[in-house]
Amino acid sequence: MTSTDAPTPTDIATRADILRITTAFYERAFADELLGPVFVDVAQLDLEAHLPQITDFWETILLGAQVYRGGAFFPHAMLHRRVELTAGHFNRWLELWEATIRSLHAGPRAEAAIAHAQRVATAFHGRLWQARTPAT
Ligand code: HEM
Ligand code: HEM
Repeated sequence: MTSTDAPTPTDIATRADILRITTAFYERAFADELLGPVFVDVAQLDLEAHLPQITDFWETILLGAQVYRGGAFFPHAMLHRRVELTAGHFNRWLELWEATIRSLHAGPRAEAAIAHAQRVATAFHGRLWQARTPAT
């Protein structure tokens, strides 16, 4: 404990919290030298359309909202056909995600957000590269 006047970070509790996280995350991702080009040049990601989807996704996972209808893998499979998404991309994605969460929150949901992203990234990476390897 220190006696600075920085507020003690609270846990993720509302959709507004998640929207703040996703907005801050994409700011970092777009500015990132490795991920930025994938989002900006390759995917030409329309953030206005995308942010509600990813916010739904995390609200479903963290707050039990059941507003995300699923199917997160498919858009990444389409993207992977245009630019190979490597372990390096996924690791950077996770680094930025964890740093974003930790800069804003602390608590069980914050930890769940980090842990679940790791699982999904591992699963996506495995499925992407498995799908591209011809069956032997
Ligand atoms: C409160 C509990 C949980 C909720 C609400 C939840 C919710 C979700 C949602 C909504 C997705 C996206 C599905 C899609 O896009 O089709 C997902 C994906 C995934 N979850 Fe969870 N999850 C939970 C706990 C867990 C746990 C405990 C594990 C593993 C120990 C796990 C492993 C995964 C993996 C590996 C994926 C990616 C699957 C893929 O598309 O390849 N989840 N989860
Ligand atoms: C290499 C790392 C990643 C890159 C470059 C990436 C990039 C993208 C892009 C460009 C889209 C928009 C696709 C479209 O609408 O056409 C997207 C959608 C999405 N991504 Fe990722 N992503 C990555 C990893 C992840 C991980 C690890 C997660 C989850 C933990 C995730 C969750 C989502 C979700 C929920 C959507 C919205 C899907 C929907 O529209 O329902 N992404 N991603």
